[in-house]
Amino acid sequence: MTYKVGLLGLGTVGAGVVKILQNPKGRHPLLPDLQITHVGVRSLTKARDVAISSDIVTDDLDSIVNDPEIDIIVEVIGGIEPAKSLILKAIANGKHIVTANKAVIARYGNEIFTAAKQKGVYVMLEAAACGGIPVIQALKQSLGGNRISELTGIVNGTTNYILSRMYFEGADFEATLAEAQKLGYAEADPTADVDGYDAADKMAILASLAFGDRVKLEDIYREGIRAITSADIGYAKELGFTIKLLGIAKRDVTQEDSPLEIRVHPTMIPLQHPLANIHGVTNAVRIEGDPIGEVVFSGPGAGSGATASAVVADIINIVAALKAIPNNINQLMGCSHEHYAEIAP
Ligand code: NDP
Ligand code: HSE
Repeated sequence: MTYKVGLLGLGTVGAGVVKILQNPKGRHPLLPDLQITHVGVRSLTKARDVAISSDIVTDDLDSIVNDPEIDIIVEVIGGIEPAKSLILKAIANGKHIVTANKAVIARYGNEIFTAAKQKGVYVMLEAAACGGIPVIQALKQSLGGNRISELTGIVNGTTNYILSRMYFEGADFEATLAEAQKLGYAEADPTADVDGYDAADKMAILASLAFGDRVKLEDIYREGIRAITSADIGYAKELGFTIKLLGIAKRDVTQEDSPLEIRVHPTMIPLQHPLANIHGVTNAVRIEGDPIGEVVFSGPGAGSGATASAVVADIINIVAALKAIPNNINQLMGCSHEHYAEIAP
């Protein structure tokens, strides 16, 4: 059976997804069972760096989420609206969702997962935090037996790219931000990166999964990197430190009902710290849990291919679950959309 995919967005991430699905050889055996039948964009005249038949491209995104033939909607347009409404309409129409949209999930995850639970559809969001690093899957499944006490991460690629270039080359903030935009790392409005909003969205999602709480954005202290100067970085360097934009979530698990503390801010860390040598667009998440101890995940946190890798993994997981393949990991681990609904923000 072929599963039909409606792709909303053909920008950095959407084009990466198309490239993977157009070239399935040597990748997951379920990829040939997927077909992108519709692609939604804003501009029908824009030049694209991906070869796709204009017959399947439309600027009427509602027609895609309302199409009864489509099984899975991949939302990679970004922003709150129309993304949120399109996701909810698609769910109401019984479609499974894959999204990379941390802004929508961090704000409306509860509404979306509740709607998905009612309709019995999957909502997958691996690409919404840390690009290509499979950290969401790890938190929900592989680390499920742990009581997590701390999750600390470099969760924004754009700001880590800027801070790394400032540290190593004394690069100019604005010029390096422009480069990050050109490379497809930054959000459509890079204020979200620079001022820590994107990192806060990701921390809300990661902390919700790690600690089982519904984290509200307003409970996260947030400060970006705009005020960091080359002089700050120079002083840090002289002292044997570096400056990173960290997301920190922790709870004192030895105390009953101890509050969850979450913050995003530039932090001076010694060069021996496990996150100090994470440079460029690389992201990393350090998790401390009982009984596992310390685990560090790292990898590309933004960019077309890395993010598409996570999006395609989510599509594969949905198809595997729909096919009820006996060794499908979702089934084995008892992790369904209902599990997401219980712990998502
Ligand atoms: P882009 O800006 O590169 O692409 C957005 C795409 O969505 C474009 O094709 C655009 O159409 C389309 N689009 C945007 N708004 C509308 C609208 N109102 N109606 C119709 N189409 C619309 O974004 P990215 O690919 O970089 O990001 C997409 C999502 O993935 C965001 O949620 C982002 O946060 C997330 N993400 C991005 C990562 C990255 O490295 N870039 C990494 C992880 C997550 P058109 O091309 O015609 O303008
Ligand atoms: N703008 C984001 C970043 C994209 O730089 O990390 C990946 O989520």
